[in-house]
Amino acid sequence: MNLHHHQNSATQLPTPVPTLLYQLTSIIDRLDVAQLFPKPQPLEVELGSGDGSFLAQYAQHHPERNFLGIERLLGRLRKLDRKGRRAGLSNLRGLRIESGYFLEYLLPPLSISALHIYFPDPWPKRKHRKNRLVNERFTDIAHRALAAGGVIYLRTDDEDYFKQMVSAFAGNTGFALAETPEELSAVLTDFERGFQARGVATLRAAYAKL
Ligand SMILES: C[S@@+](CC[C@H](N)C(=O)[O-])C[C@H]1O[C@@H](n2cnc3c(N)ncnc32)[C@H](O)[C@@H]1O
Repeated sequence: MNLHHHQNSATQLPTPVPTLLYQLTSIIDRLDVAQLFPKPQPLEVELGSGDGSFLAQYAQHHPERNFLGIERLLGRLRKLDRKGRRAGLSNLRGLRIESGYFLEYLLPPLSISALHIYFPDPWPKRKHRKNRLVNERFTDIAHRALAAGGVIYLRTDDEDYFKQMVSAFAGNTGFALAETPEELSAVLTDFERGFQARGVATLRAAYAKL
């Protein structure tokens, strides 16, 4: 009798929406990015996507593009998943992996039209600066991943890190300074909202692959 009751209530449960979090099947082979999304569209990647505030909003503005958030903290990725599912997004996915490794070894060359890096860990102590994601070597790795004309968008609150970013990209002849469109600047990240609330100035820059 109990069984009967359970069967009845089970049939009334809404169909679960599949997770937007992608499980890698290999950490050696390059990712087949087309199989992550229902529609083949230009792909944009955010490294260190945090709680997914930026991507979930920006992906709603651009249904004609696909978006992939890379984040190492599962709790934050779950927030991206929740936000994306609530908004019914089919053009957003999240992946749990170390972002430098992902960009260098898993993302196929020429596969993305934009790379978003917002408020990466600043590593302010001099002896820790070697841990920063964006440096000269990074510009070459980003150059390989971007398609021709692809753009990298950067934001930070850390002046010293900003100087490092600007000098790294200025020193790479494969990039030219670009503009951040207003409709993109207007979409704030979670950390950015925090900085704005506390009156902390933030800096931004963009570079296009030549
Ligand atoms: C300062 S937070 C900024 C988050 C988000 N971009 C924002 O602006 O709200 C940096 C994020 O990058 C993630 N992160 C740091 N190093 C990473 C790495 N090597 N690989 C993947 N994610 C990383 C952290 O877990 C964190 O969520």
